[in-house]
Order: sequence, then C-alpha cells, then structure tokens
Amino acid sequence: MKIENEKRIRVAIQKSGRLSERSQDILKNCGLRFARSKDKLFWYGRDFPIDLLLVRDDDIPQLLLEGVCDLGIVGENIAREVALENDNESGLVQLRKLGFGHCRLSVAVPEDSGITDISALDGLRIATSYPALTRNLLEKQDVSNEISKLSGAVEIAPSMGTADAISDLVSTGTTLRANHLRELEILFQSEAALYGRSQGVSVEKQALIDLLLSRLNGVMLASASKYVMLHAPREALEKITELLPGVEHPSVMPLEGSDRIAVHAVCGETVFWEHLEALKAAGASAILVLPVEKMLA
Ligand code: PRP
Ligand code: ZN
Repeated sequence: MKIENEKRIRVAIQKSGRLSERSQDILKNCGLRFARSKDKLFWYGRDFPIDLLLVRDDDIPQLLLEGVCDLGIVGENIAREVALENDNESGLVQLRKLGFGHCRLSVAVPEDSGITDISALDGLRIATSYPALTRNLLEKQDVSNEISKLSGAVEIAPSMGTADAISDLVSTGTTLRANHLRELEILFQSEAALYGRSQGVSVEKQALIDLLLSRLNGVMLASASKYVMLHAPREALEKITELLPGVEHPSVMPLEGSDRIAVHAVCGETVFWEHLEALKAAGASAILVLPVEKMLA
C-alpha cells in the first residue's frame, strides 16, 4: 500500500482494545467525521483530508515508519519498545500525550513466590511482550535475566512453568489477580500518545498535522476545564479567586441593585466538591460548574 496522495493524511489507530474507543472519540471531538469502508478498517475523512486506518496497535510504529500512515495513536510503551530495539533512532516522534490509556509495565511474580525484592530476580526467567524495555529497565537496577518474548497471554507463563516472573502491562490489575500474580515493581508508566515520523513529511502534510495538533490541544484543554459562575460579596473577591482551582484572573461583573458581584472563570484544574464548599464558606452563592465544550487559546 503506497500512498501517493500528498493532500491527505492517514492516522493509524487501534482496531479493538484498550485504546480504540478513546482514540476514535478524541479525533471526533476534533471535528473529524468519517465514512467507514465495508470492512470498517479504513475510515475516509468526510470534511477534512484526514483518514483513519484501524489496525493492531503493535503494528502502528511499523506502518508509520514505512510511510503507510503519517500519524499514529499508540501507547508510549509500544513506541519506547520500538525505539530501544533501534538504539533510540526509531524515526518516530512523540507529538503529544493524549491523557488516556494510562497503564504501567510491571514485573509480577506468582502470589506464593517468596520473592519480595527486584534484586532476587537476577538470573531468573522473565516472559514479556516488551523484551527491550524490560531488559533496559532491569539492567539499570543491575538485574539481568533470560527474557522470552511472547506476543500474548504473558500472564499464564509462570503457571505453565515457562517463566519465573513476567513483565506486562497492568491497568486495573484484574489480569494479574485472575492469574494469581503479585505486582512486584513498576518499570514504566505509559499513556496513549500521538506519534509522527521524524523525517520525510511534506509541507502540505505538516500543515494538516499542525492543524490537527492545535485542535487536539483545544479538545484536551476543554476536557480538563470547567466554567464556574458564582455570586459573592465584593470584598471576598481576592479570597474567592484564590479558591478557584487554576484561575488567576476571573471576570467580575457588578450585580444590579446589590453590593454583590458575579464572578466567572475557566478553571484549568479539576473542580471538586471541596472547592465548592470552601467557596460557599467564603461567602459565594449560586455556584454553577459547567462543562467547556471547545476552547481555542
Ligand atoms: C494488557 C496486558 C494485560 C491487560 C492488563 O493488554 O497484556 O493483558 O492489558 O489489564 P488489566 O490490569 O486491566 O487487567 P493490552 O490491553 O495491551 O492488549 P494487547 O496486548 O492485546 O494489545
Ligand atoms: Zn497490543
């Protein structure tokens, strides 16, 4: 599959799995709409020259490097593994972390094993889908292992007797618990990120990539932000501003026929009930917290 069309860009995302739904959502929130092919593996961008290719996440780095795709959404764990396999010159660049798909690469041992310290793993057998990353991070702690690469079902290796420990992704911990494994040490924290190629991107494509990045920034800013409106005594303004999370300069409006003011602000951090209760205690009333749909800084 050779792409000759310099006027459109292609984004590879995971077909099914942990990252797939959120990857689709974040692109849709950027205002992209798609027409799906019959097999649902190619989604044609309807009003924007950005198409999607739905693939296995592990294939995304290769598709990027071969130029089949221009962008890809993939876990940092996978990109890091590819970088290490290529002496840190993988040709992939991380353009932006996406704030979802958080997980960790952890070493785990059977629940009933006596191992309590990572150093006790020295010389033992470890099964993983991330051999380069695992070796790299364990060697930094002076632990070296016989590492066997498995592309799936890593968690059953200890009970099959083919490994003493595993190094695998953990998100909720359900898989470890179900397989009677105990998390021993976190090696690497990961989340989904947008990747591109470090070379060979045409000016036209770069312009589209920049536009998408700017919209992604807006989407992520908006989803992390809340619009707060409240009434307060004028003399409490300084205190109220301090209590609004992530706010420096709120908009302040007089309220007709009252010595109270209306305060409006975009909070750039999570607004908890505790914040609202503290605002109320400082004299605020009629406190409203609204979602922010779009934002362009
Ligand atoms: C990871 C890992 C476990 C599971 C852990 O797989 O290999 O199977 O997720 O999640 P849990 O802690 O919530 O149980 P991943 O989602 O990367 O799937 P893949 O290997 O098929 O890409
Ligand atoms: Zn995968």
